Amino acid sequence: TRPPRPTSTKESPVSTSGIVYRPRRLRATPGMRRLVSETRLHPADLILPLFVKEGLLEPQPIPSMPGQVQHTEESLGKAVAQAAEAGLGGVMLFGIPERRDATGSQGDAENGILQRAIRIARHAVAGVDGTDDRPEPVIMADTCLDEFTDHGHCGIVTSDGRVDNDATLDRYARMAVAQARAGVDVVSPSGMMDGQVAMIREALDEAGFEDTAILAYSAKYASAFFGPFRDAVDSQLEGDRRAYQMDPGNAREGLREADLDLAEGADIVLVKPAGSYLDVLRAVADRSDVPVAAYQVSGEYSMIEAAAANGWIDRRAAALESVTSIKRAGADLVLTYFALDIAGWLG
Ligand code: PBG
Repeated sequence: TRPPRPTSTKESPVSTSGIVYRPRRLRATPGMRRLVSETRLHPADLILPLFVKEGLLEPQPIPSMPGQVQHTEESLGKAVAQAAEAGLGGVMLFGIPERRDATGSQGDAENGILQRAIRIARHAVAGVDGTDDRPEPVIMADTCLDEFTDHGHCGIVTSDGRVDNDATLDRYARMAVAQARAGVDVVSPSGMMDGQVAMIREALDEAGFEDTAILAYSAKYASAFFGPFRDAVDSQLEGDRRAYQMDPGNAREGLREADLDLAEGADIVLVKPAGSYLDVLRAVADRSDVPVAAYQVSGEYSMIEAAAANGWIDRRAAALESVTSIKRAGADLVLTYFALDIAGWLG
């Protein structure tokens, strides 16, 4: 004899209401939602970008980035200590020099503002005990010339106005070594020059800094969302960076850039901006076997701040949702101006 027909099968679900599958069960209580959450934020995954300006006497608010400032050397030390206290994964340092020139010579000067900032940060994190329970946050620095050149481009400009790739590489190599000497943990080439990762790796190794890591800005787009950053670093750029940063329409090219950086020895690859490039981020994450970072850039931050200031959006919810989405799309690490806020909200 045949077994009785099941009353409900996947093909023909039967219940009083006719509904067998009820995904809402797992959303019913805060405890259940927490239990089944696929993506969690943790302060250790967040990196706080910080700006320090040479010769500044008081921290200077950045008008287009409410809540963010250009730091003095003194206030930078405090901000880094605060980041350490909050358990952040790291800080990303940007320097704004008093004097700019065509080659960005302050970028690799031993006493240039960024090298000084690295030494200050190094000193500030020495305050945490550095054990497994309370590690020191990782100190990273932007390895790019645009903050240091008088024309505002990320490299050496030729007489006919192009950014000279190979002449720029030598400048990056020197910057990376200067940063390593100052005690940085991670150098971060963000200028989108071809061959920059290989060149920097070789220079670091030759100078005895085999353990200094490279975070490569691999897929970096020529983005309108960097707008407020130009205020943050007093940028003097005229024109744009489209001859070296990528076209926003190109995803495949972003993967090629990431592959090249991986082959050149990148320790971490990064996608930037984040929110408008989550597809690129996911694709890079799927093929990278090194950690993947994403940068929620100035404009992404400022849009949320501006809408929140107008009462049009819930600041906290929007910040948490945006960074959660970036992690969901595949970022292991997120650079975000919300890092301290988020650490505070997470308790
Ligand atoms: C280049 C650099 C930029 C940003 C980080 N590194 C500016 C640019 O490429 O134009 C932008 C970061 C942000 O917008 O928050 N040094």
